Amino acid sequence: MDLFEHQAKDLFAAYGIPVPRGIVAHTPEEARGAAEQLTGRVVVKAQVKTGGRGKAGGVKLADDAADAAKKATEILGMDIKGHTVHKVLVEEASAIAEEYYFSFLLDRANRDFLAICSASGGMDIEEVAHTAPDKVAKVAISPLTGVDRAKAREIAQAGGLPERAVEGAAELIEKLWCAFVDEDATLVEVNPMILAADGQVKALDGKVTLDDNAAFRQPDHEALADKSAEDPLEAAAKARDLNYVKLDGSVGIIGNGAGLVMSTLDVVAYAGEAFGGQRPANFLDIGGGASAEVMAAGLEIILSDPSVRSIFVNVFGGITACDAVANGVVAAFRLLEERGEAVSRPLVVRLDGNNAALGRQILADAGLAGVELVDTMDDAARRAAELAAVGVS
Ligand SMILES: Nc1ncnc2c1ncn2[C@@H]1O[C@H](COP(=O)(O)OP(=O)(O)O)[C@@H](O)[C@H]1O
Ligand SMILES: [Mg+2]
Repeated sequence: MDLFEHQAKDLFAAYGIPVPRGIVAHTPEEARGAAEQLTGRVVVKAQVKTGGRGKAGGVKLADDAADAAKKATEILGMDIKGHTVHKVLVEEASAIAEEYYFSFLLDRANRDFLAICSASGGMDIEEVAHTAPDKVAKVAISPLTGVDRAKAREIAQAGGLPERAVEGAAELIEKLWCAFVDEDATLVEVNPMILAADGQVKALDGKVTLDDNAAFRQPDHEALADKSAEDPLEAAAKARDLNYVKLDGSVGIIGNGAGLVMSTLDVVAYAGEAFGGQRPANFLDIGGGASAEVMAAGLEIILSDPSVRSIFVNVFGGITACDAVANGVVAAFRLLEERGEAVSRPLVVRLDGNNAALGRQILADAGLAGVELVDTMDDAARRAAELAAVGVS
């Protein structure tokens, strides 16, 4: 999960990192009120989860409260790289002497963490990294030793920060490391990290990515999710603990195992070309131990997607044998019928692997309306695409 800048800064502040005082506003009037509270010159900043807001005109200086309202009018509703601005952060304008770049991130390739630091921060850091990579220091951080003040100083110096900024930057870096570790983040980026005219080093921008896999031990993080941006089907699937991703096609997909589901998407997209470009409507992995309840929950989510015109259940029996999956499908049909949500679209089932024959027999005996058994994955994908093209409902 990515955070908005204002959330990132709240988090930084909680770890003792200096950030400008700021107030979130959803309307020009709120922006005016915020500027009045902050007094003096303020900066009005678009709150969207993408970078390059400054260059897009989403960060504007305002001289007073009336000007802040005017700048907010200009920024609210703006589209920045496909993100509509629904709120702005009004914060006190800092007197900037210098702009630096700093980040900690998870370096998957090297199986450790990485600190990136440069004295040439600000809005052109990508350009600097491209044309003068020697000006961007990359320091590997062992998860075993982490970052203490001495290490933080070493990183600031490697980034070429001037001596007068090193101690302030080191303090910020050390605290940022605590935030990075304690919050289970995979990225904390401060660009620019500034040296203010008064000599203080501050975080003027903040980008934070939290690791969703750590949600179980970070109960506070749920409150940071942007509910308004969530796809309603994905949110419903998440509430049922399903691994579901909404796509834009017409063939609903259920499979067991992420790898199998991914290849199912490919096979369906390929087969669909012969039927007017039918494509998968979703990714849904019901995992190894697919019980009737999980199958029912999966079917329910897929059926609540109005663009689904056929469903392809692709299961390779392993630890959970095909007969168990077949019983799951039958039970899921009953369960949905009882709830008045009977399966209303054709279902193509391919069962293979452990106890495949038995599984097929169970499904054949159940005589479920609209269910077809197809032996191979390719043929099943073809049939599902064909049914989607016909649009039987
Ligand atoms: N509070 C502030 N006071 C003064 N200048 C600011 C302030 N916040 C941002 N800026 C200026 O605007 C630039 C862009 O802002 P930033 O928050 O980094 O947005 P983005 O990275 O999306 O362009 C900064 O590099 C800085 O020069
Ligand atoms: Mg920035």
